[in-house]
This record gives sequence, structure tokens and C-alpha cells, in this order.
Amino acid sequence: MRIKDHEELIDRQAVKYARSISVWTALEEATFGMAMGSNGYLRPAEAESLLAALALPGPGRVLDLGTGRGWPAWMLAREGGHSVFGVDVPVEALRSARDAFEAAGVAEHTFVCAGSGSALPFASGFFDAVTHADLLC
Ligand SMILES: C[S@@+](CC[C@H](N)C(=O)[O-])C[C@H]1O[C@@H](n2cnc3c(N)ncnc32)[C@H](O)[C@@H]1O
Repeated sequence: MRIKDHEELIDRQAVKYARSISVWTALEEATFGMAMGSNGYLRPAEAESLLAALALPGPGRVLDLGTGRGWPAWMLAREGGHSVFGVDVPVEALRSARDAFEAAGVAEHTFVCAGSGSALPFASGFFDAVTHADLLC
């Protein structure tokens, strides 16, 4: 993917994150019985599969790249007990992710970080696992 295209992708996402999602929230609740704050296609059952696929022996450090509004990061933190670091570029998304972490009761072991996957501000080997859901949609 060319860098110019990627910038457009991020700009498009930032516009979406600045909008109200009340209708989307109602749709998620009606469809899945929970409001995930999704901005992609990952369903709750698939997030459960993702958590199982991590196969970590215990609570670990997980990087959720392109976390958006914190989905599925909050679920990985809540169900797996993991310390989850949600990274994304638009700050509007990260504000929502922070709210989602608080609402899920996992604020103590979750973190948001504004940055790009192409230049991560973490030391090599810091994470036990990396997840991403619909990163380049
Ligand atoms: C379709 S959204 C999915 C968000 C969330 N994972 C979900 O499933 O609801 C893709 C996200 O990836 C982010 N993203 C794209 N390229 C990125 C990059 N290089 N570094 C960090 N985030 C990126 C976008 O800003 C956007 O928030």
C-alpha cells in the first residue's frame, strides 16, 4: 500500500471516529446483545476465538494494533486478564477506547497509545502477543 493511500485511510477513519455512534451502538446491542464499539467486522464469537488463539499461559502483555474504539482490546483484557495496549492514530478513536476500557472495568491494566504500527514506541520483545482486527479496512 502506498503511503499516500494510507494517509487517506487514516483521515477517513478519523472522520468516522468524530461522529456519534448511538445508532450503531443500538444496532450492536440488538444484534449481538452487547455494544462492542466495533469499527469493523469482528463479531463477539470471533473475538473469543482470537482470545483462545493467543494461547498465553497466563495474563500477558498484548498489543492491539489499530484498536479503534478499543474493540476487541477491552474484551481481551476483561476475559483474558491481559494487559492490553491499544495503538491507533486518530486521537478521537483512542478517547473512545479509553472510555470502553473504563466501562469494561479494565482501566487498571489497559493503555492507549497514539502511534503508527510502522513506528511503534515499544522495545522489541515487550509484548507476548499482537492482535489486529480489520486493521487496513
Ligand atoms: C476498520 S478499523 C478497526 C478498528 C477496531 N480494531 C475494530 O475492529 O473495531 C481499522 C483501524 O486501524 C487503524 N490503523 C490503520 N493503519 C494503522 C497504522 N499504521 N497504525 C495504527 N493504526 C492503524 C485505523 O486508524 C483504524 O482505527
